[in-house]
Amino acid sequence: MAPRLGVNIDHVATIRQARGGNEPDPVWAAVVAEVGGADGITVHLREDRRHIQDRDLRLLRETVKVRLNLESSIDPAIVAIALETRPDQITFVPERRAEVTTEGGLDVIGQRDRVREAVERCHAANLEVSLFIDPDPEQVRASAALGVRAIELHTGRYADAHGEAERHHELAALTQAGQVAVALGLNLHAGHGLNYQNVGPVAQIEKMIELNIGHSIVSRAVFVGLERAVREMKGCLDRSRIVRFD
Ligand code: PXP
Repeated sequence: MAPRLGVNIDHVATIRQARGGNEPDPVWAAVVAEVGGADGITVHLREDRRHIQDRDLRLLRETVKVRLNLESSIDPAIVAIALETRPDQITFVPERRAEVTTEGGLDVIGQRDRVREAVERCHAANLEVSLFIDPDPEQVRASAALGVRAIELHTGRYADAHGEAERHHELAALTQAGQVAVALGLNLHAGHGLNYQNVGPVAQIEKMIELNIGHSIVSRAVFVGLERAVREMKGCLDRSRIVRFD
């Protein structure tokens, strides 16, 4: 089976926030993404509320019919909102105020106690937890030790690789970290910087079950519309089961 496609709609909210009005509405975007074949909707409620707002999350919880994946920092105030909202999955990500986008994965080893506390609050509320980490086997093992359901491998270095050799090196790191995760019984997800050109080999990593993709889909949507942009990305994932990229 091809991995499921989680469409990250934060960028729709970014456009709305540029004018401070009410369009385009990420809630509407979620409906269109579902019509285009999204298997999940992903949003990141950032501490600084730079794109997705509390109102969006509330309405998305009421309207999204596929999986709702909430990206969140481990900050207790945001975790409290997650517990109240009850997404189908919460993905803990690192968050720095000055960053343009999520840079690097969560340091589960370095912040073990704080991550554990956030994870345990979610588990106590029966919420599925995923941790967004770099493709480092030690971070994978530390994640598994916390009893989470899934890890999402940060594909940023793969996406930014220059030249074939570097790209292969980064793909090998993802594949190896993925193998460790699967062997430890974790569900395997990936995302960040994936686009129509580079997604194939990541989709082909064994037991990859979810890819979260935002920027490339919303960028393409400017030209072809969101429904088609999502459908085309679904096509890339489906083709990854047929064509071999290596
Ligand atoms: N997965 C996670 C955990 C992210 O933080 C992001 C970016 O918000 C994505 C996936 C999607 O990345 P991109 O917008 O580059 O496709």
